[in-house]
Amino acid sequence: MTIRAYKGILPTLGKAVYVDESAVLVGDITLADDVSIWPLVAARGDVNIMRIGARTNIQDGCVLHLSRPSPGKPEGSALIIGEDVTVGHKVMLHGCTLGNRILIGMGAIVMDDVIVEDDVIIGAGSLVPPGKRLQGGYLYVGSPAKQARPLNEAEIAFLSESAANYVVLKDEYLAEA
Ligand SMILES: CC(C)(COP(=O)(O)OP(=O)(O)OC[C@H]1O[C@@H](n2cnc3c(N)ncnc32)[C@H](O)[C@@H]1OP(=O)(O)O)[C@@H](O)C(=O)NCCC(=O)NCCS
Repeated sequence: MTIRAYKGILPTLGKAVYVDESAVLVGDITLADDVSIWPLVAARGDVNIMRIGARTNIQDGCVLHLSRPSPGKPEGSALIIGEDVTVGHKVMLHGCTLGNRILIGMGAIVMDDVIVEDDVIIGAGSLVPPGKRLQGGYLYVGSPAKQARPLNEAEIAFLSESAANYVVLKDEYLAEA
């Protein structure tokens, strides 16, 4: 089964959410309206919580997890993703907080306690080390990811367009089902 309980808590899905049948969602995960989860995504909300905002898409092969509470950090590290976020193919998101209108490029890794402000692009294959804060309105690339340049107006507009395109696409998939 794609959507499974852990300690009696099942993922909760908003309106018109699309979850591919090959994806696996476990435990305390909340998907807001119009979220799409594409093939082979593994998302495990067991040792903390995961929240995904409206119209966000999590593309093929992504791995989403979180960190448990510890003596030094009693709240642990939840995974919180905002609205209109595009998470590219094979991205790893671990215990981080993403704002709104963000593009995470294919194959990027974002580690615990990272905060990504609104309107950011992270280049394909980048690695964002634990605890970094990425400033809104900028492109970050590399391993470790560094601020490359400010985003231009077209790129900032594209962030919302990318999310909107995925809402249309997942509606087509829902219509096929
Ligand atoms: C980051 C990205 C948007 C940059 O596009 P761009 O307009 O070509 O960027 P720029 O030309 O301004 O590049 C700035 C610098 O970063 C470098 N760079 C670009 N992408 C990079 C990446 N992914 N990793 C490392 N460096 C990168 C460029 O070579 C350039 O370096 P230089 O100044 O030394 O020449 C693009 O390369 C990318 O990674 N897009 C992600 C697409 C994706 O994964 N979409 C999701 C799936 S649909």
